[in-house]
Amino acid sequence: MPHPDDPAGLGARVDAAVTAALAAIEAAQSTAELQAAKAAHNGQGSELAALNGSLRDVAPEERKAAGQIIGAGRGRVGAAITERQAQLAAAEEQAQLEAERIDVTALPRIRAVGGRHPLTMLSEEMGDVFVGMGWEIAEGPELEHEWYNFDSLNVDPDHPARGESDTFYVAPADRHMVLRTQTSPVQMRSMLTRELPIYIVAPGRVYRTDDIDATHLPVFTQIEGLAVDKGLTMANLRGTLEHLARIMFGEEAKIRLRPNYFPFTEPSAEMDVWHPGMRGGPRWVEWGGCGMVNPNVLRAAGIDPEVYSGFAFGMGIERTLQFRYQLDDMRDMIEGDVRFTEQFGMVI
Ligand code: FA5
Ligand code: MG
Repeated sequence: MPHPDDPAGLGARVDAAVTAALAAIEAAQSTAELQAAKAAHNGQGSELAALNGSLRDVAPEERKAAGQIIGAGRGRVGAAITERQAQLAAAEEQAQLEAERIDVTALPRIRAVGGRHPLTMLSEEMGDVFVGMGWEIAEGPELEHEWYNFDSLNVDPDHPARGESDTFYVAPADRHMVLRTQTSPVQMRSMLTRELPIYIVAPGRVYRTDDIDATHLPVFTQIEGLAVDKGLTMANLRGTLEHLARIMFGEEAKIRLRPNYFPFTEPSAEMDVWHPGMRGGPRWVEWGGCGMVNPNVLRAAGIDPEVYSGFAFGMGIERTLQFRYQLDDMRDMIEGDVRFTEQFGMVI
């Protein structure tokens, strides 16, 4: 039954369309869903748009009232869209902020890119002990001429160390090149190129055909020391070695010099360090070789042994690391396992 102010029964149809629109707007859970609801219930082709279009068919005298009914319905739908739009936009912004939240107090994620090897660090530390006393760091090549590695050091041609069972010779044989078996050739290189007096240490890699075991590697490192000055004696050598031993192994460290033979020193000694913590109980262990520079070697370098004297020493750096940290097996040092390296506190 048409109402007198609603001749075409528009009110009921508008109410139904508005109710459906409001339900869809309320149900929208995102701005995208809301856009869809808006298109379906308020856009072209929607019920409200169709009702609006039907105004054309309403008698002119009733058109104003009918227009107001439809306009009021569209106004409610429009207001509901605006309100829901604001709610959804706020919720979405909040969700984004949550998702992008950064805890500024969280610990940084550290990615380890590698570590310095304890042998490298120890080699530098040993060098620093001498630099601290005013000595200089010297270097020589690992691929060395036989003359520097042996002849100039008074090692005669049939010395057993020169045999192929100890030394890596590098072809062709007539070039007389070897992988240096010791850092001692740096002694001769330094004497030939430096001004007197000389106080140098030379850490570096050396090569021998030794079989691998708990205390031997075929490629290892030594640190050579050489002092040439007026009036140097065994007492200076001993004092220098004791100083290094105390820094490496602690104030309690003791060293012992045992007479030995090296062609380039006279007298020569093997140097042992007393190790209280070695597996199998405390004992003396060989750390290096040393002695007073043989006058023949000084002469080969053009230095007058009547005026100058010298002392020299050469220690294994792997052995130093091994005794210092009571490591059972030297092989761990060359495995390249970071779990070994990390124990020495260095992770980059
Ligand atoms: C020498 O090499 C002499 N050049 C030392 C020297 C220098 C004497 C200056 C006099 C004057 P020796 O062969 O003993 O000496 O080696 C010295 C040290 O190197 C050893 O005491 C040990 O600590 C270390 N070493 C020797 N062979 C190996 C090996 N295969 N693996 C690891 N360390 C080794
Ligand atoms: Mg030895």
